[in-house]
Order: sequence, then C-alpha cells, then structure tokens
Amino acid sequence: MSKEKSLLEKLRSTYEPKIPSILKTSINNISLKQGGRTTSLGDPKEIRSSFPNTFGRPIVRMVKGKGPREVKALNVGVVLSGGQAPGGHNVITGLYDGIKALHPKSCLYGFKGGPTGIFTENYETLSGKVINAYRNSGGFDMIGSGRDKIEKSDQLTACKAACEKLALDALVIIGGDDSNTNAAVLAEYFLKEGQKTAVIGIPKTIDGDLRSKMIEVSFGFDTACKLYSEMIGNICRDTLSARKYWHFIKMMGRSASHVTLECALQTHPNIALIGEEADEKNLTLAQIVEYIAHVVIERSRAGKNFGVCLVPEGLIEFIPEIRNLIRELNTILAEHDKYFKTIGEFADQQEFINQKLSKKSSYVFSSLPARIQKQLLLDRDSHGNVQVSKIETENLLIEQVKELIDEWATEGKIDEKISKKFRTQNHFLGYEGRCSFPSNFDADYTYALGRTAALLAMFRMTGYMAAVTGLTRPVSQRGVWGVPLTSLMNVEIRKAKRVPVIKKALVETGGKGFKLFAENRLKWEMDDEYVFPGPIQYFGPPDLSDMPTKTLLLERKK
Ligand code: FBP
Repeated sequence: MSKEKSLLEKLRSTYEPKIPSILKTSINNISLKQGGRTTSLGDPKEIRSSFPNTFGRPIVRMVKGKGPREVKALNVGVVLSGGQAPGGHNVITGLYDGIKALHPKSCLYGFKGGPTGIFTENYETLSGKVINAYRNSGGFDMIGSGRDKIEKSDQLTACKAACEKLALDALVIIGGDDSNTNAAVLAEYFLKEGQKTAVIGIPKTIDGDLRSKMIEVSFGFDTACKLYSEMIGNICRDTLSARKYWHFIKMMGRSASHVTLECALQTHPNIALIGEEADEKNLTLAQIVEYIAHVVIERSRAGKNFGVCLVPEGLIEFIPEIRNLIRELNTILAEHDKYFKTIGEFADQQEFINQKLSKKSSYVFSSLPARIQKQLLLDRDSHGNVQVSKIETENLLIEQVKELIDEWATEGKIDEKISKKFRTQNHFLGYEGRCSFPSNFDADYTYALGRTAALLAMFRMTGYMAAVTGLTRPVSQRGVWGVPLTSLMNVEIRKAKRVPVIKKALVETGGKGFKLFAENRLKWEMDDEYVFPGPIQYFGPPDLSDMPTKTLLLERKK
C-alpha cells in the first residue's frame, strides 16, 4: 500500500460506521430467535438431495434475550471472492471488531487471492494494525480476491485441511451468487465430513442481483451506482452543452440490469435498455436497433442530434437469438474445450463452430462482426459464465444503428442530414466503480454485515448468509439475521449441466423501480430532463450523504 494517503483517505479512516442497536448489545443479552423451516427458491427436490444436511434450516434473528454467559476465543478465516465491490474491507473490519468484542484473544485469518488461498493455505493473521489501515477504504487489496470455484474433491479436502490446521470455528466467504454457492457446497461438505468449521456467506456484488426478501441488496451496489450516475450525469451535461454526440454507455452488471435501471432513475438518460424487458418481450437485436434508430431520428428532427443511451452489459444474453447462440456455444466449448484450444487461426475456429451450431444459431453467429464473434468465443469464467464485460455490446449497437440509419437515408426514407449528424462516443462504466471508497450507506451496511457474521460464527450457524434488514430505516433500527444459503438456491444449466446455484435476482418488470422508469421514459426520450447527481458525498446533511439508492427506496416503500 502506498505510504502517501489522500486527505479523504485519512478522513475516511476515522469514520465510525453506524450500527444496528442489537449489535451494540452485550453478548450475554443476545439470543437467536428461530423462524420456521425454509425451502429453496426453486427446484426444492434437487436442492434437498444435493444438500441433505443444510436444506430446510430456519431463518434466525438476533434478538435481545438470554445470551451465552461465557464466550471462548474464536478462530475465524475470511476470504474475498469474485469481483471487487465497495465495502469489502469494512466487512472484514466489522468481523474483526465483532470477534474481538466477543473475546479479545479471538483471531482472524485472511485467505489471500480468493478461494485458492484456502486450498493452498495461503493466509495471513490479520492484526489490528492491518485492519486499522483499511477501515472504510475501497478495494479488496487487503487480502486480494479470485474467482475460483470450490467443487473438485481435492479442493474440498484441501479446504477442510486448511480449516483443521487453523482450528477455525468459522470461515466467512464474502462473495456474489457463485461465491455463495461455493459457501453452500463447503458448508454441506463439512457437515458430511464432521468438520466443525461453520461456513458463513456475505452478500457482495455491485451487480445488485444477489437479493431476496431477506437480502435487501448486495453490498457495493449503492456506491457503484452512485459513482456511475455521477459520470452519466456529467456525460449528459456534456452532450447537452456540445449538442453533437450520441453517447452509448455500456454499464456493468453481468446478467441483471439493476445497475442500468438504478442509474437511469438517478440521471434520466434518453434511452436505457433493460435486458429483462427485452427478454420478456422477446425482442430481437434488429428490433432493439430499430427502436434506438427511431429515437435518434425523432430527436434529430427536433434539432437534437445528441443523446445518451445506457446499455446493460448483460443485454446481449437476454436477446433471444443471441441467448440461444450463447447456450449452444457454451455446450460446444465445454464439450470440445481441449480440441478448440488447439485451433490457432480464427477462420478455422469460425469454421469449426459453424459446423457444430444449429442452422439458426450459425446464421446469427455469422451475422455478427468478427470482433464480437471473437469475444463470444473467449474462455468462460470458472463458473461457466460468458465474460460479458469483454463483449462490446455498445459498439455493436452503434454500428447497427448507423447502418440502419444510412440505409433509410439511401432509400430516401429519412433526410440524409440525419445520418450525417449521427456521431457517437462509446463508454464502458465498470471497473472504475468497483473500488471506490464505500458510500456511507455501504460503509455502515458492510460493517454491520461483518459484525453479524461474527455472531453467526459464535452461534456456529453453518450454511447461513449474514443479513441486515430495514436498510431504508435509520441504522439503529435495522434487523440482524442469518438466512440459510439453501433457501436462496435453484438449479441452473452451467457448462451444459444442471447445477444447484444461488438464484440470480433479475429486474422485475412488475417492480416499482421498473414501473417508474417505464412511466417516464417517453418523456426522457425527447425532453432533456437529465439529472446531475454529482459525486458521492461522505460528509454533510444525511439526506445528501446517507440516502440509499432509488431502487431500494421504491422497493421498500409500503
Ligand atoms: P461479482 O458478481 O463477482 O461481484 O462480479 C461482478 C462483476 O463486476 C460484473 O459486473 C462483471 O461482468 C464482472 O464482475 C467482471 O469480471 P472480472 O472482474 O473477472 O473481469
């Protein structure tokens, strides 16, 4: 870590996260209140048979009551898994403070570089000095992160050995849907093997798609959306000033369009595409391109040869013909992985792929620019996902809209000037939002998640995710829970096989956030009703510095 600290870094390190009042209570006065048995979000039979030991456990809540009289020192391991999200360090500092408050001799071990740090026993003891250096900071650099999947039997055995060696009472996995699937698998395996370490998950991802009734939002979403919205607002103002460019902005969010929707609600761009809507309406790529072209033409006729269009990176997988193509590609690449990697020339790769694809998908594949074809053939991540961040969907749309407008101009359907004045800029808002200083919302939320995980560790609640509810209420009134990981699962096709995974929560077109967007978008298309949120505020009036996202406020409004 750099020795030179920015002024904000110094000031943020002294911020004291606000915590729910139950977390201020002495441990002797905290007890666990159990709810009824749970089931899974989908495919309960398959989930039960894969997780016989952890399926059906009750939701638990920390309440005031008779708690343990004595608590022994705890040994806890922690690992960061998957993409960075603002607030990761605060989960660790909350966990550290939580276990130290339970017993001053408790010890926290950080596994380095993601789950691989567990298999390879690459860890460090996290001292108070290290912890203090990272309070309220962005990034995951305290211990690093990785995307490894914990699935092979040698990996499971190695995890068990690492936990035994350190006599871990608990292992806390901070991650998104795939990483929490890892946590569920490990919890089940440990129980089967009689290994005492409790495995606890923490809901992380800027994508905002790890949510359910009990998990109101994953951490990082708040900060990332606020940061992207600042940038989108600035771009809106730039285009309003220069009046000469259409800005196509691809937004991160591997599958769900929550980030795009939230940023649209915060900034009112002229167009925001929502993948889930495209899916529901079965929109083809050609239809999406036509829709954008119409808005471009109408605005041009009104003298506005400029605009802003938000494109979720996951859109590509929601377009039916491309989704089918990707599914077929996933199967082909999984079945012929070794051979495919030996094909050196791209033309030969194309030929091989086209032979294996169905006629329809082969046509779709061939109609895409070679650059996009190459991006679709890139390695899947270890969980079998296409790396949508590497696919230039915004450029694909720019090219196709341009082609269509040119075609209509040539055919005399529209004035030639319109096509001449369609000038574009492309952007990708992704990585720059993942390591920002967490907003006050995320700093408070993540710290409380860490403190909750410490309690779950003490109560040995294995196979549970830490949850904090009531996130739109004052922090002191928030609830603190443990939610069984299996209750968040369903079965999905990964690498051509049915596998139990934590279910991704997609944008609901019947939800309040989408409805508000849908009610306003026609107005936003033509009128320039841009909103300029400006930078995240860490100090000042709570209305400015502590406000949750629009989506959360709308969803939680009674
Ligand atoms: P997580 O779900 O692991 O939090 O990661 C989310 C994400 O930021 C996506 O939005 C994006 O598509 C992906 O990670 C990028 O992955 P990578 O960092 O491996 O390029």
